[in-house]
Amino acid sequence: MHFSFWEKTGFALLMAAWVTWGSNQIGDMLVHAEELSENAYKIEVADSGGGSAGAADKEPEKSAIELLASATSERGEKVFKKCAACHSIEKGGPDKVGPHLWNVLGREKGSVAGFAYSDTLAGMTTPWDYETMDKFLESPRNFVSGTKMTFAGLRKASDRAAVILYLREHSDNPPPLP
Ligand code: HEC
Repeated sequence: MHFSFWEKTGFALLMAAWVTWGSNQIGDMLVHAEELSENAYKIEVADSGGGSAGAADKEPEKSAIELLASATSERGEKVFKKCAACHSIEKGGPDKVGPHLWNVLGREKGSVAGFAYSDTLAGMTTPWDYETMDKFLESPRNFVSGTKMTFAGLRKASDRAAVILYLREHSDNPPPLP
């Protein structure tokens, strides 16, 4: 069978039109699919963002400072077992891997004479108060970059509140509770 030039051209144009239309359709489908998956993804992000973000967890949860009022030193004593390998707490106690912690609340940061602090902590001149102690114990590394205290931190605000109360009670002159 022989096609004339015009027949061939017409056929080619038809094919081209069909291919263009077809790819548009496919393109639409793809774009559509993309939109769908994008939506699904965004919703998922919003969900997991809300679920796992610290802000959402913390909103209903009280801060360690707020929890101080209901904390007990018995619980603090238990939590302090995590610290006792490196810190003494009793009056006149020795420095161990870490400095002794008698009187630590209200004491200037990094100020125990003869203890080899990290440069960062040694350079801090303000006293330990409830807020800075809370931040330090939550993540020593974040609060004092380059700290020698190789302790991951206490994640639970209630643990920090209990141990801060315990530290406070081991002092000649406990600072007033906030
Ligand atoms: C593995 C040993 C280790 C553990 C466990 C540890 N610390 Fe420390 N801690 C250190 C060292 C070392 C330093 C000195 C940090 C520096 O110089 O940067 C320090 C410093 C401190 C300071 C600052 C004291 C000052 O004189 O400024 C406080 C407060 C403190 N630790 C409390 C705690 C508490 C509370 C715990 C338990 C929840 C704990 N630490 C667990 C080793 C430890």
